[in-house]
Amino acid sequence: MLSIEEMKIYLKENLMEKRYIHTLGVAETAKKLAKLNGVSEEKAEIAGLAHDVAKNLSIEKMKNIIEQNGIILSKIEENNPSLWHSIIAHIEAKDKLKIEDEEILDAIRWHTTGKENMSTLTKIIYIADMIEPGRKFEGVEELRKVTFEDLDKGVYAGLNGSLKVLLVSNLLIDDNTIKARNYFLFNSNVKA
Ligand SMILES: [Fe+2]
Ligand SMILES: [Fe+2]
Repeated sequence: MLSIEEMKIYLKENLMEKRYIHTLGVAETAKKLAKLNGVSEEKAEIAGLAHDVAKNLSIEKMKNIIEQNGIILSKIEENNPSLWHSIIAHIEAKDKLKIEDEEILDAIRWHTTGKENMSTLTKIIYIADMIEPGRKFEGVEELRKVTFEDLDKGVYAGLNGSLKVLLVSNLLIDDNTIKARNYFLFNSNVKA
């Protein structure tokens, strides 16, 4: 694995400035949430840094990586290129940043849609991506507050917020996001 400093150099060179700054914000937020939730702060920082490693690749390049790795896209994924950087994130993280840790790779793979039964680290990256200091949308302050009080409640609220935006924007909703949300209702005390 590259050192954190080496990763930062790679990301600075390969991401747009705005995206690189976002990445640093996600890493910082993830680290704080890791400490609060008893998971490795180092893994959280690395996953935060790496999660958007593929974000500024061209559509063509992403398509090639998907094909070369034999990834079969669902109909929804195929029609939703904004998901592609997440679908190949773990491949790029392995290839370019030499990350081998499966927990980190899982967290960055699922950072956009979430999925059913996420690990604590995967939840942290999902929500840190949404609430890092550079994010500005109505309700973000409340979402930050809830997340720092209770990770599950924050992630659940984040999934609901994302679903609402997709609904009113007439965008496709990936099954994994619905499954992620329902999982919390069945298995966690998110409504209280
Ligand atoms: Fe992303
Ligand atoms: Fe991101």
